[in-house]
Amino acid sequence: MSAIAHRTRPRLIRWPGLIEHYRRFLPVTDATPIVTLYEGNTPLIEAPAIGDRLGPNIKVYFKNEGANPTCSFKDRGMTVAISKALGEGSRAVICASTGNTAASAAAYAGRAGLKAYVLIPKGAVALGKLSQSVMHGARVVEVIGNFDICLKVVRDLAERDPVRIRLVNSVNPDRIAGQKTAAFEVCDQLGDAPTHHFLPVGNAGNITAYWAGYKEYQQAGLSGRVPKMMGYQAAESAPIVVGHPIDDPHTVATAIRIGNPASWTNAIKARDESGGLIDAVTDAEILAAYRLIAAGGVFAEPASAASVAGLLKYGATGGFKPGSVCVCTLTGHGLKDPDTAMKNLSHPIVVEPEIEKIMRILERD
Ligand code: F0G
Repeated sequence: MSAIAHRTRPRLIRWPGLIEHYRRFLPVTDATPIVTLYEGNTPLIEAPAIGDRLGPNIKVYFKNEGANPTCSFKDRGMTVAISKALGEGSRAVICASTGNTAASAAAYAGRAGLKAYVLIPKGAVALGKLSQSVMHGARVVEVIGNFDICLKVVRDLAERDPVRIRLVNSVNPDRIAGQKTAAFEVCDQLGDAPTHHFLPVGNAGNITAYWAGYKEYQQAGLSGRVPKMMGYQAAESAPIVVGHPIDDPHTVATAIRIGNPASWTNAIKARDESGGLIDAVTDAEILAAYRLIAAGGVFAEPASAASVAGLLKYGATGGFKPGSVCVCTLTGHGLKDPDTAMKNLSHPIVVEPEIEKIMRILERD
């Protein structure tokens, strides 16, 4: 017997991917080929400094979806959508995207041996996301137009042959089914649902998915309550808040630069059924939250920070009672958008390798 066999090996709990873990809640059968990169099971990280800011006995947690395989929450829906597409004989998948859906579709399609076609708004996708789509071998088409125009084009294209070319935007119910597992995880990690769940809102698929997940877990007797769903759009891309589509949306948070969300009605339902809110935060509020999150050791992309900006805005109106438990989803990793991060570097410091000079610089206020 080898020496190693005498020792007690620390047990590594192997995560099988979210389809295996939550199989009974998902639209798959034993015949479905599972395409997984072991997505899900992302950390829930407490942010005590932010909780203290909001008032006594208020807990704040980040659901860090940047820890997924392609560094955004899109992988949850994509593992289901691509598995189903493969099982049902598709040869290719197509999506419109502000970047993250495209990166995820490209990765999972690559793994499944399917082609990926992605249409993105020209000049409005963060560099990290674009590099992922390129490296995973997607056919990337930059369209002269915004996300809403791209989505209309891919819907029309997919309609021509929906079996062979599968649409994998969140209008595909398999995407929503996969994404609802994030709500299951939050309940499993906290021991119950939170009182409030804060999310950025773009095309409104994710708020739809979380609400479905929270309701389903409560109905299954696995959580005792459902949270208020708190969705935040960027101020100049806030169609749901202003009540009409926006033709030319703008925001530093390019992921949620969307003027006519496909799941608009479902977002309203999530808000109203949960007694929640859909509101807007300014780019300045988004960037302040972006820096605050990063200062606490977690790097999330600007769109993700809309959830925390929303939390702070709501908290400032005295919205929270003691005992509130708030979860903010950080939807994508900060490295997705290095250009926005680098704009925070106001004074590049260049110096000769001289210890005294460097010491003076380090000690400067
Ligand atoms: N946060 C990030 C980082 C996103 O990429 C998105 C959407 C959202 C939030 C909003 O989620 O659309 O479900 O309301 N990104 C899509 C894309 C549009 O193409 O990657 P939503």
